[in-house]
Amino acid sequence: MPSKYAITVKNLKKSYGKTEVLKGVNLSVERGTMLALLGPNGAGKTTTVRIMSTLLKFDGGSVMIEGHDVSKEQDAVRNVIGLTGQSAAVDEMLTGRENLIMMGQLYRLTSKSAKARAEELLERFDLVKAANRPLKTYSGGMRRRLDLAVSLIATPPIIFLDEPTTGLDPRSRIAMWDIINELKKGRYDNSFDDSIPRRSRPACRSDRGD
Ligand SMILES: Nc1ncnc2c1ncn2[C@@H]1O[C@H](COP(=O)(O)OP(=O)(O)O)[C@@H](O)[C@H]1O
Ligand SMILES: [Mg+2]
Repeated sequence: MPSKYAITVKNLKKSYGKTEVLKGVNLSVERGTMLALLGPNGAGKTTTVRIMSTLLKFDGGSVMIEGHDVSKEQDAVRNVIGLTGQSAAVDEMLTGRENLIMMGQLYRLTSKSAKARAEELLERFDLVKAANRPLKTYSGGMRRRLDLAVSLIATPPIIFLDEPTTGLDPRSRIAMWDIINELKKGRYDNSFDDSIPRRSRPACRSDRGD
């Protein structure tokens, strides 16, 4: 029987050089739920998210994502997750809309659904007016909103959001929470990290900072 947990982290350890950042982290996230990792700057939240999303190697323990071992099955893990901070993959010369459609197609959406999803997200993140402008003309806040839109384009079963509302204006912050709550109500699991959570429960706190 498949586990009821989308994410299982056991005794996770990670050091940078001599600095031990994760000293045995345990986490279980049930499907269809949200988990917020709380903690001061330097507590190790981003490190944990990067490990769970296959971007960073770890020193000890185990991490299973939808039954796949992140240290052995990176491709399988990448197929079931979405991650913010994917703007590394966007193209400065393309418009906001073109970037979203391109990312949708990269995630193997049909051209029609990529376009429909792009329009929905442009609307939600207040980017309709800027949709036809190349990314290189976007302000910092607009880039941040586009980055979040990109991470939500394909709605994979698990989404990692590292500080999803940091740097957003109030309107986009509300839009972000609306989207997160919609995803939660639907069939998706969301695992995310936000240093200033307002409406998220349950929470997992890591108190040790820098
Ligand atoms: N690439 C790195 N090399 C060395 N130390 C790092 C690196 N990345 C993060 N750290 C350190 O690891 C600790 C945890 O960082 P991070 O996971 O970014 O924390 P958080 O996201 O909770 O603010 C911090 O002390 C940070 O300075
Ligand atoms: Mg962080």
